[in-house]
Amino acid sequence: MKVLKTIKEMQEHARTLILKGKIIGFVPTMGALHEGHLSLVRQARKDNDIVIVSIFVNPIQFGPQEDFARYPRDLEGDSIKLKNEGVDLIFYPDMNDMYPVGYRTFVEVQEISERLCGAFRPGHFRGVATVVTKLFNIIKPHRAYFGLKDYQQTVIIKKMVQDLNMDIEIITCPTVREPDGLAMSSRNLYLKPDERRAATVIYRTLLEAERLMREFRKPEGVKTIMFDRLRSEPLVTSIDYAGLYDPETLEEIKDYSEKEEVLIAIALRIGDTRLIDNMIVKL
Ligand code: PAJ
Repeated sequence: MKVLKTIKEMQEHARTLILKGKIIGFVPTMGALHEGHLSLVRQARKDNDIVIVSIFVNPIQFGPQEDFARYPRDLEGDSIKLKNEGVDLIFYPDMNDMYPVGYRTFVEVQEISERLCGAFRPGHFRGVATVVTKLFNIIKPHRAYFGLKDYQQTVIIKKMVQDLNMDIEIITCPTVREPDGLAMSSRNLYLKPDERRAATVIYRTLLEAERLMREFRKPEGVKTIMFDRLRSEPLVTSIDYAGLYDPETLEEIKDYSEKEEVLIAIALRIGDTRLIDNMIVKL
């Protein structure tokens, strides 16, 4: 398994792979890898000749008050995991190579970037769309893999690829959960033991909302019960959003009698840790 650290080396290597006719699958990550990330890697391994994983904690997708500085970093542990999965190459760029002094270009996917998490993390999805565009330009993959855990991110990346005519197939993979239902996340490492227990309220609330929907309760009613249940957990410090949304436009749903699919989504804080989760319900 190769580790390349400069953009120039990575671009040159990608070019030779493509000239040899290799099909490249790409998994972008910020490291601190867990089974959620590895599920994407395994899918990429099945579908492609070459699997490339990037590890880059992207500063421009973090707000000034967010956890960029303390975001977990473990290149050594990550390398072992990726080697075991048969990954061909890790791209591990340097911040100054990605964003040199005088950097000026950003990619913005309008409207869908402002909803849900976008409303609470201004500039976040602009940072994500920008870094993913840069990584796509550097690695030139045929396919790229994203987890449905970050549902809004998948919608934004698909829209960006469509609008900017990027010739890349976007593959989405299901959310991997802990045995008690908590969605795996690098940020779960921040949780103290009592907070970790409290965090199970998120998945329980998604399941409860799904059950209520299937009884055809009104979306407003489902939302109220979701908030009640989340607030009943004393370690939940704030709720950014919880409710039912259109899976394509991400607008809140007032009536789902006509809908075939509904997105149930939650973002909240337990202590200082921001957690998100979601579920797509087919009606
Ligand atoms: P990161 O949070 O490291 O996640 C990398 C990929 O792993 C994303 O596509 C994410 O959705 C997926 N993932 C994380 N937890 C998962 C889980 N429990 N089940 C399934 N997939 C999961 O998302 C990012 O990094 C960044 O925004 C990035 C796209 C790399 C751009 O910087």
